[in-house]
Amino acid sequence: MRKLAAGNWKMNGTRASLSEVEAINAALDDTDPTVVICPPASLLIPACEIGGKISIGAQDCHMASCGAHTGDISASQIADTGATYVIVGHSERRTDHSETNDVIKAKAQAAQKAGLIAIVCIGETLAEREAGETLAVLGQQMSGSIPDGATSQNTVIAYEPVWAIGTGLVPTLDQIDEAHRFMRDELLTTLGADAQNVSLLYGGSVKGSNADDIFSVSDVDGALVGGASISAHDFVPIIKALSRA
Ligand code: PGA
Repeated sequence: MRKLAAGNWKMNGTRASLSEVEAINAALDDTDPTVVICPPASLLIPACEIGGKISIGAQDCHMASCGAHTGDISASQIADTGATYVIVGHSERRTDHSETNDVIKAKAQAAQKAGLIAIVCIGETLAEREAGETLAVLGQQMSGSIPDGATSQNTVIAYEPVWAIGTGLVPTLDQIDEAHRFMRDELLTTLGADAQNVSLLYGGSVKGSNADDIFSVSDVDGALVGGASISAHDFVPIIKALSRA
């Protein structure tokens, strides 16, 4: 199982922000987990050029390898920048761009084909949680959006309750534990023994102040961090908490 701290910069950052990638890199040592920064597409190449221990990922890819899709970027183009990861199915993509599980599965498949590691995001809305549907929703999203051929080497799953993203709200540790156990069990039925090696990330309002608690949950292998990943000041304490876990 791979410990992984991933930062999703969303539509934030310009070239001036590359100094934060450099600062995060400089703070890493051999005991730290894998760290991935997913900057906007405009920064993929210069972020990759920084080198060092940090890995770089994109925030989305198109399902096709090339073609007439204005404004999109393909998985192979992402790989060509030197990036090695891509987030697919983030709730903001599911909402803003009406992405369905089928679309997300096709994107994850495209990522596999291009040799990228797909970080597949799932998570329930507040209404779904309040209706007691959380595990059913997670099950549908997993079976619907994780492609055939997924392995611990090419796929990471991020559990991000929609209501916890950017809100400061965090599920209880029991709620995180329940979701992550469920995800591991689901993967065991589809991937067999390799399920134990898949990194399961928690995402949604992770901060330095709550990271130790979140990483103490047994099936949490790391975090997908939004707001707190944009500066080294906020992200490095989360990485160090994961090193300690
Ligand atoms: P947040 O975002 O850490 O700002 O809540 C998490 C995410 O959207 O991946």
